[in-house]
Formats: sequence, C-alpha cells, structure tokens
Amino acid sequence: MPHYQVVKGARDIFPDEILQWKHIEGVIHRLAALYGFNEIRTPVFEYTELFQRSIGSSTDIVGKEMFSFLPDPAGRSITLRPEMTAGVMRAALQKNLLAAAPVQKLYYISELFRKERPQAGRQRQFSQFGAELLGVSSPAAVAEVITFMMHVFEVLGLQGLTLRINTLGNMDDRKRYREALRNYLAPFYEQLDDASKERFEKNPLRILDSKNPEMQEIVTGAPKLHDYLGRESLDDFEKVLFYLSVRGIPFQIDHRLVRGLDYYSYTAFEVTSSALGAQDALGGGGRYDSLAVELGSSGEVPASGFAVGMERLLIAMQKQGLFSDLEAAAPSVFVIVQQQELFDQALEIVTRLRRAGISTVIDLAGRSMKAQLREANRMNAANALFVGSDELASGKCTMKDLRSSQQEECLLEEIIEKFRQSEPLNPPRS
Ligand code: HAM
Repeated sequence: MPHYQVVKGARDIFPDEILQWKHIEGVIHRLAALYGFNEIRTPVFEYTELFQRSIGSSTDIVGKEMFSFLPDPAGRSITLRPEMTAGVMRAALQKNLLAAAPVQKLYYISELFRKERPQAGRQRQFSQFGAELLGVSSPAAVAEVITFMMHVFEVLGLQGLTLRINTLGNMDDRKRYREALRNYLAPFYEQLDDASKERFEKNPLRILDSKNPEMQEIVTGAPKLHDYLGRESLDDFEKVLFYLSVRGIPFQIDHRLVRGLDYYSYTAFEVTSSALGAQDALGGGGRYDSLAVELGSSGEVPASGFAVGMERLLIAMQKQGLFSDLEAAAPSVFVIVQQQELFDQALEIVTRLRRAGISTVIDLAGRSMKAQLREANRMNAANALFVGSDELASGKCTMKDLRSSQQEECLLEEIIEKFRQSEPLNPPRS
C-alpha cells in the first residue's frame, strides 16, 4: 500500500472512466446549446457569509458540512463552495448581468465540497451539472429547467427515474405556516432533539425533514403546508404541472418534499433513481426568487434552477450498462522504427502527420520492433507505418492496416491525403 492515499471522501478519475464523464458532458453541452443555456464558471471558493445568507444557517450544509478557512490571519473566512446556485447569483448580481439582458440562462459542470460522511454516492468532493434561469417569474421557467434536466436523462438512456414535485408557497404563505407549525410544536418543545430545538426558532419547517424517528412521530399530526397556500401559489403550481404534462414529463406530487436548502419558494422538486442505493437523489432544484434579496439586491430576481450529482449519474448509468459501447479513441497511425538510428527521422514524420491532424504515436523508449508492434496492437492503433532505411531512401513508407493486415507502399503525402482530418493543426499564419 503506498504511503499517500487520496483524501477521504475524494476520488481519482482514471482515463477509462474519463470516457464516461466526457460522454455525459458532451450530452450536457449539446442539450444546453439546444435550450439556449450558456456556460458559467465561478471560483471554487467564496466568502463564507455568501453561503450562510443563501443556503441558510439552520441547514446541515452550513451548520456542519462546509470546508471553511481563513486565507490569512486578518482575512475574511472563505469556504469551498458546497453548491453552485449562490455563487452563480453572486456573480450575476456583481456583473449586473440582468441589465445587459433581462433573462439569463446559465449552466455549469462544477466541483463542490461538503464535509459529509463518505459512502456510496456521497463524497466530500463531488461534481454537479446544473442550470440557473434568472429573470423570469413565469411558471414556464421552472418547467423549462425541469424539461432540460429530464431531456439530458432521456438522451443518456436512464430508466427508473421518479420526479417528485411540491410547492412551498410564497413568502407570505410560508410565514403563516411557520406560525401555525410553531404553535403546533410548542407543547412538544421539551421532547425535541437539540437540532430541532434550534430549528424551532430559526426555521421550524426543517423539523419536518428530520431523520430522527421520534421527531417524525411528533410531526405526523402537524398542520400541512398545503392548507396554508394562497390562490397565487396554487395557480402557479397548477401551471408548472400543466407545462410538464404537455411536454409528456411524468411527475408525482409530494406535499412532504422540502429541500435541504432554505432559498426555495413556490416550486421545489427532486429526482430519484431506482438504480441508486441509500443516496438515491440524483438531482433537485426549484424556484428561489428571494435569494437575490438575501445577497443584498434591492429587489427580488425571479430564478429557477436545478443541480444533478454527476457521480450519482455515473453510478446509475454504470448499473444500467449504459456505457457498454464507449471505446477509447485509438491512434490512426503507430510509427514503427525499424532501426533506432532512424528515430529522429521517424520523429519528423510523426510531426508531419500530427500537423496534418492525424493522430499518431511512436515508441519513445527505443524498444525492439516486436515490442513496438505489440504496443501498437495494445493501443488498438488502426495502422502501423514502418520507417526503415529503404523507405527513407525511396521516399515511400510501408503502411499496414492492423485490422485487415493488408500492407501497401505509398508516399507520405498520399498517407496524409488519405487520413487528413478536417483542419490541419499548423500555427496560424501571420
Ligand atoms: P442539492 O439537492 O443539495 O441541491 O444537490 C443536488 C444533487 O447533488 C443531489 O441530488 C446529489 O445528486 C448531488 N450531491 C449532493 N451532495 C453530494 C455529495 N456529498 N456527494 C455526491 N453527490 C452529492 C443543490 O445543490 C442546489 N444548488 C440545486 C439548485 C440549483 N437549486 C436551484 N438551482
């Protein structure tokens, strides 16, 4: 066992698996373009207050899962981002993006950090792909982000997904409900566990989410949020459901769905996969109009978004055998040097082929011809190009198709013509 191991909760991703990542990323980038989402990249760290204000100080993420540190003794605390939404909104406000164009459709594939207990599908460093649609308050906006997410799953071929959806109402509804919930919970206060006692003051809705069976028992008789929703919230929810229905997206209404982040209002949703184990949430999101105000904006910025865990997506796809036809790109040409003293000339040929856009490799270790051929086969190279003194003298090369074993002699120019890819990779001419 080597002395140094990867940090607990993090993973190395090796070339075989990179193929799977690139396949998924390719689909995400293609569909994002189809829906008109533009990519955004924000720093991996932000000032800690950003997450405290946005995700909420009573949440597990802010309470115990953030990697926070002081960059220097006098500096402000910074935190490795545990999610993307807050950073994307911060960036949009800071750059005043909505003044330039009143609707912003942004997406990302990014690394995140949460100090959780690692297990299958739960890491301390993980990635999400997600989208944030800013500037539109219509229920069509939340339906649009859900449709984009579900379309990615469909193109990737995922089966066994369940989309659960709920409305958390607007701020007024929630205020009335919070009061009602506190009134209900007050007689049980002494029986609440420590976390729930804290949540009782800050955000009693989160007690509904508690995994503690005693807390679950207490909340069974609690008033239901749904009974406190006003007409506006109910109409909004109806319309979201309508837009999903017309697009043929199946969903289940789940009035108990509250998400683990505080910034949501109106619609919230989550997708689970039957291919995943205990950590079966593949993605989730919702609408978060008041986040901008929490971050100091003078008015609300209507916003909807989602994020999907990339590692969980990968696990679900692996379990469903959805990567079986992926093949590593094999080189078109493996240049075989017949006598090592010709290596430098062979290298010139390699350079010419590569500059013509033809993927070419050569053995750099000075091994025997037999070993070079073995390597060419191991790499699944399409052709072997033999370079020997006779070939160099005649200006011709012997090219062997390693799949059919057919061999022919031709000029290097002819080979270049045959294999040339679209654009030669020469430096631009000035
Ligand atoms: P979230 O539900 O906290 O939402 O995370 C979204 C997804 O990220 C989860 O469903 C899960 O697949 C994945 N995930 C979360 N934690 C881990 C972990 N420790 N290891 C592996 N995967 C994980 C958000 O982050 C919101 N920002 C979503 C959103 C976007 N809402 C509006 N816009």
